[in-house]
Amino acid sequence: MANEQIKVTINAQEFEVEKGARLIDVCREKGFAIPSFCYYADLALQASCRMCLVRIEKMPKLQTSCTITCTDGMVVTTESEEIEKAQRGMVEFLLANHPLDCPVCDRGGECELQEMVFDWGGLEERFTERKNYTPEKFLSPIVANDAQRCILCKRCTRVCDEWMGEDAIEAGGRGAHTVIGTYGGWLNCSQCGNCIEVCPTGTLLDATYRHQARPWELSNTTTTCTFCSDGCQLALGSRAGEVMRSVARDRYVNGINGEFLCIKGRFAHPFVNHEERLRTPLIRYKKGGRLVPATWDEAIRHVAAKLREVKAAHGPQSIGVVGSPRLTNEANYALWKFAREVVGTDNYTATEAFTLAPFFENLGAPLATHRDIRHAKTILLIGGEPEELQPLTGRQIRQAVRNGGAKLVIINSVPIRLKEQAALFLHVAPGSEDAAVLALVAPGEAEGAAAKLGVAGEDLARASQMVSETEGDVVLMFGGELSAEAQAVLAQMPHAFGEREGRRFLLHPLPLFNNSVGVHDLGLMSGAMNPLEVLDAAGDSLRALYVAGSFLPAHLEGRADALAKFDFLVVQELFHTATTEHADVVLPAASFAEVDGTYTNNDGLVQRVRQSVPPVHQSKPDWGITSQIADAMGVAFNFQMSASAVFREIAERVGPYEGLRYPLLKDESEPVQAKHALAGRRDLSGEMEALRASVREMTEAGEKTEGTPPVGHELFKLGTLTGKTPQFHLLAAGNPKPASVLVSPLYQLTIDTGLQSREAATATGD
Ligand code: SF4
Ligand code: SF4
Ligand code: SF4
Ligand code: FES
Repeated sequence: MANEQIKVTINAQEFEVEKGARLIDVCREKGFAIPSFCYYADLALQASCRMCLVRIEKMPKLQTSCTITCTDGMVVTTESEEIEKAQRGMVEFLLANHPLDCPVCDRGGECELQEMVFDWGGLEERFTERKNYTPEKFLSPIVANDAQRCILCKRCTRVCDEWMGEDAIEAGGRGAHTVIGTYGGWLNCSQCGNCIEVCPTGTLLDATYRHQARPWELSNTTTTCTFCSDGCQLALGSRAGEVMRSVARDRYVNGINGEFLCIKGRFAHPFVNHEERLRTPLIRYKKGGRLVPATWDEAIRHVAAKLREVKAAHGPQSIGVVGSPRLTNEANYALWKFAREVVGTDNYTATEAFTLAPFFENLGAPLATHRDIRHAKTILLIGGEPEELQPLTGRQIRQAVRNGGAKLVIINSVPIRLKEQAALFLHVAPGSEDAAVLALVAPGEAEGAAAKLGVAGEDLARASQMVSETEGDVVLMFGGELSAEAQAVLAQMPHAFGEREGRRFLLHPLPLFNNSVGVHDLGLMSGAMNPLEVLDAAGDSLRALYVAGSFLPAHLEGRADALAKFDFLVVQELFHTATTEHADVVLPAASFAEVDGTYTNNDGLVQRVRQSVPPVHQSKPDWGITSQIADAMGVAFNFQMSASAVFREIAERVGPYEGLRYPLLKDESEPVQAKHALAGRRDLSGEMEALRASVREMTEAGEKTEGTPPVGHELFKLGTLTGKTPQFHLLAAGNPKPASVLVSPLYQLTIDTGLQSREAATATGD
């Protein structure tokens, strides 16, 4: 039903607006500028800066438009001498204690306070008293703080509380001596930096970038984050071929994440220009010999000759091809094409943690976008830990509950932090998540399932009832804990619950990598082997292997020597890893900041990756390397050295991407969703039987995992990429508070390197 429309008059013009709309939003939407500092859409109201003043007829004083909802017949004036005088007075007060140090402030040139003062011009400062002084200090290895620049808008404290659920930063002191800080003087939070991003002044600053560049020196490139499957849009700021910072400010970008980024998206970019990047192609001419630098021509010729040799001796199926969910769709498509059309092998796969094939084959409802999650009425989360592994999804869930009144049902073997927001948290036995899926689709079997899960039967019934009785959107989410059968059954759950007017089901998988959905869509995951089978077949049925990216530490666990068994191993990578250790040829690949392409996120949105800096050293885009090897083996890919030509071919050959082109994907504020085919109601008797059998085999619930894992236990893990940001080493080592908060902790703390390598071994491979 359309919302009721009412009439309001703004500056003598009449408009029809939605009843209950916020006046500041309506004025701005209709083109009337309203200054503000503390108002921030979709956060709780603060109403403290008094910049958004307007005159409303029949109201005695000027009113703050951020606190007023429109009523029928309202007559509003936004510009007058009286209003401007009051606003100028507010700015004069804000500047009473503000230092005049714009030339040395990192925010200078993109500061909202500076802009406001410049816009008005001629602002006189009549205060002659000495200003308060507080020294610049560090609140963590990543957040620096110059408290005297604060205008107390409290955007930072609200995002920390409402987006992050952390409440780590607060205002302390009184009156003119109020400062933003934290309990104990040191932030033990997830270090997302969102408080820095939303701060309108230079009070909270990025300690990894501070004093390194001025905003006007940077070229900003809108691109997609290369870490988790949420696919946040970000602006990479580069200067002279070097990535200096990553921000999500909506003055540059207005993507699915607004101004939100997590620690990885915002601070883990130093790997791009890191000194350890592979510089040239490397060839090991003899097993056991050294890798020696070579030219691209030599390396490509060598790879082509060796692959031809293996194919002639052992047949095409003796060659394996392995892609990666971290690479672009273009890179993975080129690998798939190489496997099928150049080698002619079925033995291709990707270094993915779990396959989404059963989910997509049985997709009973559309994928939920992050916007859908924010406005959902019920969210059912089985397994997973979005606040650590898909932080944007975590934020959307939290805001759906806190700011939107959604009901959250969590079924998890770990008491994850999000349980604080849950209307119902079912703490289940480790490894029993499949039983919850069975109970939800087959209520008759709920009692037996409850015993395996270790929860009360009535709690399972309540979860089912909350889903069933929802008016509005229900989002079903799942993590990597579910088996293939359970994934299939969950994907069909919308059919199991049946149709009901006013209720819509949406599905949201939680894979781990930036292009997990893309690598599935492009078919690389449907080869004849999975990554473990590839390693097990090394030196046996598989004699040569071509890998783009690296195997996950979990794949190599217990198979450390597998890679040494191939007659020929070629790896294209950014850095030396455990996978390149036994390679016969190592090819330097370009990172996400150096290439054009696309990633498909967990919403199914196909988003652009754009080149921000030229390829570092001699590196090349992965798809370009693959097509050069193909060429040397006698098959022309005809990509004409252009990523858009690769994507055009994807759009011609891959169903869900049909008809897409780069120009259609250019506006990040209108992202385009891949057309994943929906499956009608399927006969799942085979999957249900397998599910029942696996649940029967589960032991009755025993001990459960107690204790909520600490903030950052996944986010701070050191991987190949995150380990290149020095601050991550301090965080991974427990974020110790240094002796002095006035000096960067990087210069005060030396972390045990043994600890770093142990952490790297357990990381998911970022
Ligand atoms: S970095 Fe993130 S979690 Fe830490 S205080 Fe800032 S907003 Fe809060
Ligand atoms: S630190 Fe920044 S965001 Fe926080 S209250 Fe001060 S000015 Fe506002
Ligand atoms: S939530 Fe995911 S996509 Fe967004 S910034 Fe963090 S790692 Fe990147
Ligand atoms: S924006 Fe309305 S009081 Fe600050």
